[in-house]
Amino acid sequence: MSDAPLVLGIETSCDETGVGLVRGRTLLVDAVASSVDEHARFGGVVPEVASRAHLEAMVPTVERACVEAGVRLSDVDAVAVTSGPGLAGALVVGVASAKALALALGVPLYGINHLAAHVAVDVLEHGPLPEPTMALLVSGGHSSLLLVPDVTDDVRPLGRTIDDAAGEAFDKVARLLGLPFPGGPHIDRAAGEGDGAAIAFPRGLTAAHDLRRHRYDFSFSGLKTAVARWVEHREAGGEPVPVADVAASFQEAVVDVLTRKAVLACREQGVDHLLIGGGVAANSRLRVLAEERCAAAGITVRVPRPRLCTDNGAMVAALGAEMVLRGRAPSALDLPADSSMPVTLVRA
Ligand code: KG4
Ligand code: ZN
Repeated sequence: MSDAPLVLGIETSCDETGVGLVRGRTLLVDAVASSVDEHARFGGVVPEVASRAHLEAMVPTVERACVEAGVRLSDVDAVAVTSGPGLAGALVVGVASAKALALALGVPLYGINHLAAHVAVDVLEHGPLPEPTMALLVSGGHSSLLLVPDVTDDVRPLGRTIDDAAGEAFDKVARLLGLPFPGGPHIDRAAGEGDGAAIAFPRGLTAAHDLRRHRYDFSFSGLKTAVARWVEHREAGGEPVPVADVAASFQEAVVDVLTRKAVLACREQGVDHLLIGGGVAANSRLRVLAEERCAAAGITVRVPRPRLCTDNGAMVAALGAEMVLRGRAPSALDLPADSSMPVTLVRA
């Protein structure tokens, strides 16, 4: 594929300044500058801090990506950027940078949907996506179940969280247990020492009446409150909090619902491939349970490697390259940074 398009992808929807270079479906480089450490003491991402960090990191990260990939900016055939959804001020930095690059280089610009990019990234690791694919996207910012007949053009939302995102729940429960931010990896590790069946925490939106209205939706805020109550009750009684058991039982409640609903959606929609993406896809228990339940249901699971699951520029470049390969029209140069871009809009 020597004549495959060289696409530069820029991602700034949250706290990662990602710049990726992809040639066709081959990943050349995935350069990321993260401001996560600057947010740690606040226990969550501070939008203004993230925007400033993107401004500072953008040019050096683009330069680093080119050097590591051994390409010149003038070799780039198209620029892709996350148009939304995400933090408004953070998105603006990426979109403005991408417009400047596309204009200066005289190449087409693709303003793309962050969620679709989380799906498209897997072509870099596992090749073209089966059509349709079911996608479960779980991160600090989103928890969505998407039916994807064509990642460049047709993404259909089946369900989403009605309150907290899955990763947000991990982060809040970690904080409650005195674990550092971001909490997901710490809960995952602590849970490895605990018993997931020790405490029966609630499974949001799984009762029969909830399934009628919210068949493929998620809810994690009730679970978070249940964990908080349980911990408070222990502390009020002067008893020590069994952190490993709480972490494992909480984690089990989250991944039980995620995998149950994902398998249900695959079965009911007649889809035999499930792709899991977003930061929470790194969760070891989620991976094991998804494999188990999907194998039992005849569904093949695809999970990109953890580095590609979290926000990065390569995923944006990957979707941009798919758009070029399929001859999709580029965006207009006045494309917006759209913080609430609907997932049905794959390209701005
Ligand atoms: O995709 P991502 O890097 O950024 C966005 O939020 O968009 O995801 C970060 C989220 C955080 O909430 C973090 O706690 C969670 O992913 N996470 C995990 C694990 N690793 C990261 N959650 C559970 N288990 C993990 N191993
Ligand atoms: Zn994301």
